[in-house]
Amino acid sequence: MQFQEKVLTYYKEHGRKLPWRETTDPYHILLSELMLQQTQVDRVIPYYHKWIKRWPTIQDLAHADRTDILEMWMGLGYNNRAINLHKAAKIIVNNYDSNVLLAMQKYKHVPGIGPYTSSAVQAFAANKDTIVVDTNIRRIFIHEFSLPESTPDKEIEELAAKVLPRGNSRDWYNALMDYGSQVLTARKTGIKSKTQQSKFEGSDRQARAKIVRHLLANKKATAPELQQICDISQERFQKIAAKLIKDDVIAIQQDIYQLQ
Ligand code: ADE
Repeated sequence: MQFQEKVLTYYKEHGRKLPWRETTDPYHILLSELMLQQTQVDRVIPYYHKWIKRWPTIQDLAHADRTDILEMWMGLGYNNRAINLHKAAKIIVNNYDSNVLLAMQKYKHVPGIGPYTSSAVQAFAANKDTIVVDTNIRRIFIHEFSLPESTPDKEIEELAAKVLPRGNSRDWYNALMDYGSQVLTARKTGIKSKTQQSKFEGSDRQARAKIVRHLLANKKATAPELQQICDISQERFQKIAAKLIKDDVIAIQQDIYQLQ
């Protein structure tokens, strides 16, 4: 069977019913894409529902309190995504007349939005013929077309453009994502993702999460307190705290840390 027909038939028969596939609201789709960036579908679903109930529109989000946003994101990991989303919402409301799709076309001016997210939102929200290649889709192309794992992104994207059924990108990319995550899995194909996710336990990411969690609960803390909570060396704590400050997540004033 032809590649496209095979993937689309699979989707018709076995495609997942996911909440962000029931909408074309670009803000809701943007939210789903950011949540899905480093988090599994099953974990994202309850967060996605809670979030849009609390902030149904991009204006609601733009006017929300950063602490509430971090609290709502807590448990999804990579808090940067939440902070960037908040900044992005403000920019989209103030500079793009709340037009998320327009802002996706100018994604370089929007914090936390890269070419992947921009293309994905335009495909899923507006059925636009953009090129979307995530780790699942990359794996499908490498497997189906017997490409070396070292194939540069650019070549995969050229192939993605060639096989895209024009005018049907929404279904096509949903179908590819399901085919990649349910049929041509990493385990089955033996194809590794480009950035094999590092382990959370003992990672800088875990330490960052502990710091943010503590500051959400206690408002203020000193360096020795936070270092003890993270159970890491002073040097490592200083590095991680400096990065959190640089990313606008926390602030330090007279040796006291608090959320930005
Ligand atoms: N991962 C990223 N975007 C996705 C989507 N729309 N559906 C399922 N998994 C995804």
